[in-house]
This record gives sequence, C-alpha cells and structure tokens, in this order.
Amino acid sequence: MDIPILERDAALEQLDRLAKAARFGTGHTVFVTGEAGAGKTTLLRAFEERMTAAWALRGACEDLSIPEPLGPLRDLAHDAGVDLDALWRNEGDRLSVFLNLLGSIERTDEMALLLIEDPHWADEATLDFVRFVARRLRTRRILMVVTARDGENEGRAQLRRAMDGVSAADMTRIVLQPLSADAVGLLAAGSSQTPEEVFRITGGNPFYVTELLRGGIDDALRSVQDTVLNRLDRLPQQTHQALQAVSIFPRRAERDWALEIAGAEDEALDPAIESGLIQEDGAYVAFRHEIARLAVETALRPTQRRHLNKALLIRMQTDAGVPNARQMHHARAAGDRAQIARLAPWPGARRWLPGPTVRLPTTFPSPSRFRIRRMTGRLPSCFSMRVRPVALSAV
Ligand SMILES: Nc1ncnc2c1ncn2[C@@H]1O[C@H](COP(=O)(O)OP(=O)(O)OP(=O)(O)O)[C@@H](O)[C@H]1O
Ligand SMILES: [Mg+2]
Repeated sequence: MDIPILERDAALEQLDRLAKAARFGTGHTVFVTGEAGAGKTTLLRAFEERMTAAWALRGACEDLSIPEPLGPLRDLAHDAGVDLDALWRNEGDRLSVFLNLLGSIERTDEMALLLIEDPHWADEATLDFVRFVARRLRTRRILMVVTARDGENEGRAQLRRAMDGVSAADMTRIVLQPLSADAVGLLAAGSSQTPEEVFRITGGNPFYVTELLRGGIDDALRSVQDTVLNRLDRLPQQTHQALQAVSIFPRRAERDWALEIAGAEDEALDPAIESGLIQEDGAYVAFRHEIARLAVETALRPTQRRHLNKALLIRMQTDAGVPNARQMHHARAAGDRAQIARLAPWPGARRWLPGPTVRLPTTFPSPSRFRIRRMTGRLPSCFSMRVRPVALSAV
C-alpha cells in the first residue's frame, strides 16, 4: 500500500529555503521534532529525495540499553571517508576530532547535507558533536537536519543538550503535528475502515494511522503493541502498573481510582504524563491515543484484566453516581455474572440468572433490545435478530 505524504508541504518548503541559503554559504541546523511516529523520518526522506544536488551524509542513533559511543559519528565519518578511530588516536581530544570531522564534511564545490536521526538515544559525545556543529555552520555550506522525539522525558533532556548554546539565528525547529481529520479521511478513503473511527483511534498519529489502514485493528494492535510496551518498559514499575490500570477505562480514567486499583502511589502516573503517553484533564487521565490504550489493555493477562476490572467495579460502587452502563462494562470484563445480572437493564431478567443458557422471551420488544446493546457493548449477533431466543450468559 503506497501512502502519500500529507500535510508536510510547509515543512518541506522551509527546508528547501534553508538548503538554498546553505548552498550559498549560510549554513543552518534544523531540529525536526515530534512524538514517536509523527513522521520525522518520512519527512527527512522526502526532503533528501528533493536534494539531488547535495552530498548527503547520514548518522543514526540506535535504541540500545547503553548508547554506542559516537554511534552516528561513525556513520558520518564512514560517509566522509574518515577513519574515526585513527582520528581519535591522532588527535586525542574531543574538540580536535570534531573540528577535523567537520572539516572533512565541508566541500568547496557542493553543499553537504548532514542528516542525524534519533539523538534521543544518543550518547553524550554525539550530542556534544551536534551542538558543536550547530554553532559553527553560519559560514559553511552545510545544512544539518536532526530528527528527534520530543515526547519522551529522556528525549527532551537529550534535545536540550544538543541545542544548548546554539543561537536562535542558527537553528530552526520544525515541530510535526498529528495529521488532521481531513488528511486521515484521505488516507482512509477506499479502505474498509471509516475515517472518523481511524481518526478517533489514532488521534492522527501517522504511524498509528498507517498501521491501522495496513492491517486492520488486530494487526495494528500487534504492531503498535511492541512500540507501546517498549515505552512502558522504560517507565518505573509503579508507573507501568498504573498505566495498565488506566488502560481498562474505555475513555478516560478517574486518576484516583486508577492509582487505587493499581496499588500505586500518588505520583506514579507523573512519568507517563511527562512522556506524553497519557494526558491529564482535571481529575481524569487518558491515553493520548486510543490505539495505545487498546494496545496496553489487550496485552494484559486475562487474570490481570479480570482482577483490575473487579477492583474497579468495587471502587465504582462506593460512588453513587456511576451510571449502570459503565459498571456493566467492567462487570463483563471481570466476568462477574452476579453483577451482570444485578446491573441488567430490565428488572425481570434477573430471575433468568445465573444459568448457562438463559432464554429471553421471544416477544422481547425491540426498543429494549436496542437499549441492551448500548448498555452492554458488543452483543452476540442473535440479540439484534428479530424475536429470537438468546443465551444471556454469553453477555
Ligand atoms: N505526512 C504523512 N502522511 C502520511 N503518512 C505519513 C506521514 N508521515 C509519516 N507517515 C507514515 O507514518 C509512519 C511513521 O512515520 P515515521 O517512521 O516517519 O515516523 P517517525 O516520527 O520517524 O517515528 P519514530 O519516532 O519512531 O522514529 C510511516 O509508515 C509513514 O509512511
Ligand atoms: Mg524515525
């Protein structure tokens, strides 16, 4: 499936303008930032394709538990035909090595494009190199473009270090926004999914949108799960548990309730808010992307999901104002048949429970059928069939 690049014209034009200035000797640094999957690499590739008359050197950082020292510099040195280890041996100190490397990147006859990806995973020396170069481009025919996640706590600190001391005149920051509902609509056209639903689930994050359109919700969840669970693994254990609790709330979670059922401290969710996985809204917290919530929820072990839902249901019932439909959702997820019966929307239905194959009267009126579907979410298809007996235990 070939996916067009949408809503990045302004960013590409800005990069073109800066490249033109660099070609005439006024170099510059651009930081392209955005959350995971915002489309940073895609933008960089698209820009690179337009820059046929430039010498492109690339360096990328890897997501390793301990960053490889000078990882991206090795790539750049390789592209520039420089033996970094020999340079290091001969020069000995960091500044001389950086200066030498920068010297070999600069050409008199063509402009150089320095592309550095993902410094949120970089070691300190690499960040120092980015800052060193960014402060020295004003009179060089070099455009440096750095793509970085800015959502993660850790990433922000790295980014700050890379930008530290670089004057505003020497750098530009392009912050990539999620795709609009219209753009998602264009991408979803012709697919089996409704654009509104794709936008609702993904929040316009290009990675989530494309995953969803490529393989449908099940495949998308599988692929998103790796990314999201990886992010969770980096957070403190308590935060991880609190997020699992938040994931069982379909839309947004009462912060206190989520913490309580997770057995977590008051501040346990703070790292998740700082990392941009969830957002706060008064007394509530919610995943920024529904697909991320689903990824966490569906990764719960069945017993874990039942326990969390049961605990939440008990907590909810200490509060008189929680609508039955909300309670019913968690009673079903907890597999609590007694509660399902208690919460069933028609009083007489209780006497059919608990039983494995309870049958509704065949004259069950259709408006009530509609109401039940709304109360209980996904229902067996026979519920929507006309006057047909149904096994209520399947609910
Ligand atoms: N502007 C866009 N329009 C349509 N699809 C896009 C756009 N930008 C990115 N995509 C799609 O979204 C997916 C993720 O994009 P990309 O890998 O560039 O994100 P990223 O910001 O580099 O992610 P990460 O933070 O993980 O490095 C890709 O499959 C790409 O095809
Ligand atoms: Mg990327």
